[in-house]
Amino acid sequence: MPADPAATPDRVQAPFGRRLCEVAETRPSGGYRIFTLIDPEGPAPAPGQFFMLAAAPDWAREGGRPYLPRAISHARFTRHPGSGQRLDFLIDEVGPGTSRLAEMKPGDQCWVAGPFGGRFSLPRKLNPQAAGAILVGGGIGIAPMAVLRRELVDRGIPSRSLLGFRDQAHSGGVEELFGCEETRLAFEDGSSGHKGYVTDLLLQLLEGDDSASAAVYSCGPPAMLEAVRRICLEREVPVELALESPMACGYGACFGCAVPKADGGYLRLCIDGPVVRGDEIATAMAGEPAVD
Ligand SMILES: Cc1cc2nc3c(=O)[nH]c(=O)nc-3n(C[C@H](O)[C@H](O)[C@H](O)COP(=O)(O)OP(=O)(O)OC[C@H]3O[C@@H](n4cnc5c(N)ncnc54)[C@H](O)[C@@H]3O)c2cc1C
Ligand code: FES
Repeated sequence: MPADPAATPDRVQAPFGRRLCEVAETRPSGGYRIFTLIDPEGPAPAPGQFFMLAAAPDWAREGGRPYLPRAISHARFTRHPGSGQRLDFLIDEVGPGTSRLAEMKPGDQCWVAGPFGGRFSLPRKLNPQAAGAILVGGGIGIAPMAVLRRELVDRGIPSRSLLGFRDQAHSGGVEELFGCEETRLAFEDGSSGHKGYVTDLLLQLLEGDDSASAAVYSCGPPAMLEAVRRICLEREVPVELALESPMACGYGACFGCAVPKADGGYLRLCIDGPVVRGDEIATAMAGEPAVD
């Protein structure tokens, strides 16, 4: 039974202000780290939405960095009646903010604001002819793909996941967040799955399928997202991308997250995104300087 697109509001509204949440669990997963927060007050986030996180003690420590909270997508959420929800996050340590988040221990406190941004559309809303979804995740970008996949499974909508990584040291979360069914892997160093880019797998699928019935969703590094965007636009396959950009506030005030639109002007990724249609933007390579 196709789901009614009207049943999915564009976004879940964040409660006002930030709230303290406790770390329940933290564990390594490949080269990444997964940590779990208990969020007693927050609403259930939708696929594609993100949170602004800051560890409660020792946030501004190395020369004042990290100063601003960091935008992080949830990788899974689980409702627990009476105690709120468990939120899982997948972290790739690339700088002071993600390193501080990755070293939190059970019982530590973390400031949480969100969920922010808009959600991925369901396949029939993105493409009325869609027979299912193709999810293309790269690196840490597999986190929002895992949440979308879970929602599609719950709704009985077929999906196939294509996940790409540079090497084993820059991968993680696959076993825990994705089932092995309908999931294909690509490693650039050939250590597992297809040797090469995840976009090779996308091209194979689109060539084997009737691309008129495809709906593609993607999150990952800018170069991968731009490749996915071009592959889809060239074949007139509707595609939604979850983009990254430096985010200082998360609610539309600072314009730090602006990306150029295809028809001129800019959109603010924190409120107009992070999920955008591929034909809505001029490029997925808008650049990602670090935030303080
Ligand atoms: C909506 C959204 C969701 C996200 N979800 C996740 C997630 O689930 N998990 C996760 O780990 N991350 C996620 N990120 C990315 C994360 O928020 C950023 O990488 C963040 O800046 C990390 O902070 P940091 O202090 O660790 O690193 P930073 O010091 O901010 O560095 C971040 C990156 O920028 C590069 N960089 C540093 N300086 C410069 C410069 N001058 N010019 C260009 N590049 C530079 C670094 O090499 C590094 O790759 C998400 C971002 C967004 C916007
Ligand atoms: S992060 Fe401040 S406007 Fe988007």
